[in-house]
Amino acid sequence: MHDNQDTGGLRQLPFMGVIYVVAEAEKLGFYNGHPDWCNLGQGQPEVGEVQGAPPRLQAVTLRPEDHAYGPIHGTVELRQRVAEHYNRLYRRGRRSHYTADNVAIAAGGRLALTRGIFSLGPVNVGYQLPDYTAYEDMLGAQMSRLTPIPLRTDEKAGFTLSAARFEQAARDFGLQAMLLSNPCNPTGRVIQGEQLSQWVGIARHQQCTLLLDEFYSHYIYDGAGNPGQRPVSAAEFVEDVDKDPVLLFDGLTKNFRYPGWRLGWVVGPKAMIKCMITAGSSVDGGPSRMVQRAAHEVLAPDAADQETSALRQCFARKRNATVSALKELGVRLPWEPEGTFYAWGALDRLPEALADGQKFFRAALQHQVMTVPGEFFDVNPGKHRQGASPLRQWMRFSFGPPHDIVTRGLQRLNAMVKDHA
Ligand SMILES: Cc1ncc(COP(=O)(O)O)c(C=O)c1O
Repeated sequence: MHDNQDTGGLRQLPFMGVIYVVAEAEKLGFYNGHPDWCNLGQGQPEVGEVQGAPPRLQAVTLRPEDHAYGPIHGTVELRQRVAEHYNRLYRRGRRSHYTADNVAIAAGGRLALTRGIFSLGPVNVGYQLPDYTAYEDMLGAQMSRLTPIPLRTDEKAGFTLSAARFEQAARDFGLQAMLLSNPCNPTGRVIQGEQLSQWVGIARHQQCTLLLDEFYSHYIYDGAGNPGQRPVSAAEFVEDVDKDPVLLFDGLTKNFRYPGWRLGWVVGPKAMIKCMITAGSSVDGGPSRMVQRAAHEVLAPDAADQETSALRQCFARKRNATVSALKELGVRLPWEPEGTFYAWGALDRLPEALADGQKFFRAALQHQVMTVPGEFFDVNPGKHRQGASPLRQWMRFSFGPPHDIVTRGLQRLNAMVKDHA
């Protein structure tokens, strides 16, 4: 993955995850929006008009104060709006509620997460396998201070960490922090209801700070593939918003389909948010004011509810189309997506030439279809684990693109498999 150019005092980091997929596809002529390519590797949702959703925002006006620095952790107006969003969705009738002081805004989800990890002390931090590729570098970059502890899940465990397993690990390893995406990218599994309540309780009793990446909190489906009734967030199970050690990361990237706006946030106890503000001041200079003003509009209660329920309808249809097409072409889906816009499938029943993530990926590129090999999600900070990944026969298929592109991509994969039969 490295070329041999002299980079002087700079280190050459390999491309990872979706970025690697895109770089390989570009070598074959792909560019974003290319009419002949189907990007089923895509980590972003479709960004155009969706039936039943409010019209896409078309304009934002610059104000004189926008030319200046804004507050490092976001404007008080937007922080207040985000707090109200959580109180409205998850904290009705609860004794404690989030305020602007419980929220920090950052320019995108990865930056918010980076700030969170940057703020951790010299602790053992648990993370789940498989999980979101970007965690590898976020954790790896802080290993002079942090000790990342992997907790692997597998097909038998439903690719989910049970609350009991979390509790055991928290005790055995003295975890003072635990990072995971829920709903999970790439597996589409969701910890919810009683299990999620137990997770929050364990975090509280073990004093283990949960860094919960809830970027897909509104992409929820029931077992039959119907749109879920409501979003999922640990905010529902927090007892005291200033005491329970729970940091929630979310933003406009997925749930509001504005990935290019670069707007993310973290919600949690005031004292922890304060630590992250201090860390933020050296990591970045704070988010842009005009984007925050636009975000305020997006999070207006009626508009927000209209958008998120329309997206669940739209993505549930694509989920079901993806699941049936993948099954038809022989991909095994032991756990159908209950969240996110990804299907996580095993290739072990495919013809030998395709029964491996890398081989499948390369072959699909020849058909101008992008997919992501499962081993990319075998997060490995510092590259300390050696040898072949147990995820090498798994693949992530995205139904982020518009329906017609998803369908076309799956048809091409079907033809590819038939060619190999
Ligand atoms: C699990 C998860 N968290 C966070 C993000 C962050 O998104 P961004 O930095 O684009 O806002 C992503 C995007 O792919 C994701 O999949």
